[in-house]
Amino acid sequence: MRKKIVAGNWKMNKTFLEAEELVAQVAEALEKRKLDNKAVVLCPPFPYLELTTDIAKESKFQVGAQNVYPEDNGAYTGEVSPPMLESMEVEYCIIGHSERRKYFAENHDFLARKLDALLKHNIIPIFCCGEVLSERKAKKHFKVVETQLNESLFHLKKDEVSNVVIAYEPVWAIGTGVNATAEEAQEMHAFIRGLVAKKYSKKLSEEISILYGGSCNAKNAKELFSNPDVDGGLIGGASLKSEDFLAIVDAL
Ligand code: PGA
Repeated sequence: MRKKIVAGNWKMNKTFLEAEELVAQVAEALEKRKLDNKAVVLCPPFPYLELTTDIAKESKFQVGAQNVYPEDNGAYTGEVSPPMLESMEVEYCIIGHSERRKYFAENHDFLARKLDALLKHNIIPIFCCGEVLSERKAKKHFKVVETQLNESLFHLKKDEVSNVVIAYEPVWAIGTGVNATAEEAQEMHAFIRGLVAKKYSKKLSEEISILYGGSCNAKNAKELFSNPDVDGGLIGGASLKSEDFLAIVDAL
């Protein structure tokens, strides 16, 4: 069955004490909730992963990293490897986020390597894709997303891709307060699912989770998530306050 997921991408926010407080608030609130087929994932900055996985052991959420380097170990100063994440019981990792593509020049090949490295260590990649505003205005958004999937994701075998979560994040919606409309999100998610069906199988396309990200908040989450091909959200700004984040979890 297709999993419903709300993942909080904290980005580069929170001090240690603030992080501790937010994780504790989310953990406590989830105690009272029945999650059934829903997964709640917190993706704090690296220094707070241990704190978060410790609390997660006694709670109902899972933990994701925001980045990884695609080698097991070695002379890569400042980087963090998949075996390190695996050994800390980190279950998910965001890759292909537009901020990493833009500020850290991460290209298709590098992201393909990250996918391989994560899957080798049983970590579920949350693979982000999405177009910038000029590409949407030029009506190239489908082509852009198709290329991102072709170049970084579709080299995987069927049994590998079934362990990947896709997040459609139109770059013009990230952190802008302007979310994609429910129709725009549904249209792209259905397109992505169609590509997965064409490349792999209809069955696999029905099982893969496709999240929406980009100014998803407590107000618009319900409408976005009510679409048949939107299986949850990757939440930035609204994941930094427990009430907002939990309202989004409740909208799923
Ligand atoms: P936002 O970010 O919710 O703040 O728009 C989403 C993301 O970048 O994952």
